[in-house]
Amino acid sequence: MTTTYRIAVIPGDGTGLEVVNEGRKALSAAAGRFGFALEMTDFDYGGDRYLRTGEVLPETAVADLQAFDAIFLGAIGHPDVKPGILEKGILLSLRFALDQYINLRPVRLYPGVDTPLKDKTPDDIDYVVIRENSGGIYTGTGGISMKGTPHEVAVQSMVYNRFQVERCLRYAFEYTRKFGKKARGKGDANTLGLVGKTNVLTYVFDLWERAFHEIGERDYPDVKREYYHVDATCMWMVKSPEWFDVLVTSNMFGDIITDLGAETQGGMGIAAGGNINPEGVSMFEPIGGSAPKYTGKNIINPLASICAAAMMLETLGETEAAAAIEDGVKWVTGNKIKSMAAGRMGYSTSEVGDLVVEHILKG
Ligand code: IPM
Ligand code: MN
Repeated sequence: MTTTYRIAVIPGDGTGLEVVNEGRKALSAAAGRFGFALEMTDFDYGGDRYLRTGEVLPETAVADLQAFDAIFLGAIGHPDVKPGILEKGILLSLRFALDQYINLRPVRLYPGVDTPLKDKTPDDIDYVVIRENSGGIYTGTGGISMKGTPHEVAVQSMVYNRFQVERCLRYAFEYTRKFGKKARGKGDANTLGLVGKTNVLTYVFDLWERAFHEIGERDYPDVKREYYHVDATCMWMVKSPEWFDVLVTSNMFGDIITDLGAETQGGMGIAAGGNINPEGVSMFEPIGGSAPKYTGKNIINPLASICAAAMMLETLGETEAAAAIEDGVKWVTGNKIKSMAAGRMGYSTSEVGDLVVEHILKG
């Protein structure tokens, strides 16, 4: 019997729909070639819906989405809606409600893609950031008092409990064991680097660091452990990205360093991420935003969305199909498109999607 995966699609705002459509094309081509089926259902969550109804997410959203095998997201962010409302109300709400406690963000330079890092090649820029996705400053308590007066006080605290830290670290160790550089035949060790700030944030990162070494020593002695301060990490991401294998870090640090990482891999046109609940429903998205100024012009780069589609299939266990999509992307970056930037690819959005499909089908 054919396996059918039920996918919830949230095109969202701006160019979200255009890039999601190219992702769907790649998914359908891969499904056809590798013999599984996809049933895709669209949800209209986003700025337009909010402006029309005043509702960010309907009450049933989380329960509705829980019935799917995965979620495929375009972009969230609307020029007529105050910043924060949709990002917090849709993207962050779903991450938290669906307990997607891992944000998996590969930093991978594909062939033919320009990197701002001088003399670095796809061999050098090839690591993964595992960002804790359910806690830290993002969910810590806070508030503001005496607002608008010279004495106003604002607090937003970084809060982590042992449970959140441990489950994230365990995922990271397992991932490193399976996909680290040794496992991929690219080095003589699988190395997990903890990125923190133990010299200043002496409570939170002390907890992270102790848990890291305890779990590693006891359960993952085969995985090499390293620790880096987050500021130094930024330096090395630019200077010597080849040092990195798998990095694990807190929510806020992960948010920041993955934008830097994305830029080194050719920018938002190509960077994808997965919000993962290893025991539940995961959500895959291009890292870039909704790019209102390019909306509807058929010029946005859909490769990040197509890469997100590949990550989704990988997570669903369709490894070969995922690899076929990734190969298609590499073929397009290596042989076809001139630039990753919107409007400068030498092809339209849908033509880039067609090229990837062409390669998936011919294998
Ligand atoms: C990201 C984004 C989000 C985040 C915003 C839009 C809430 O920057 O996915 O990295 O901070 O996590
Ligand atoms: Mn971000």
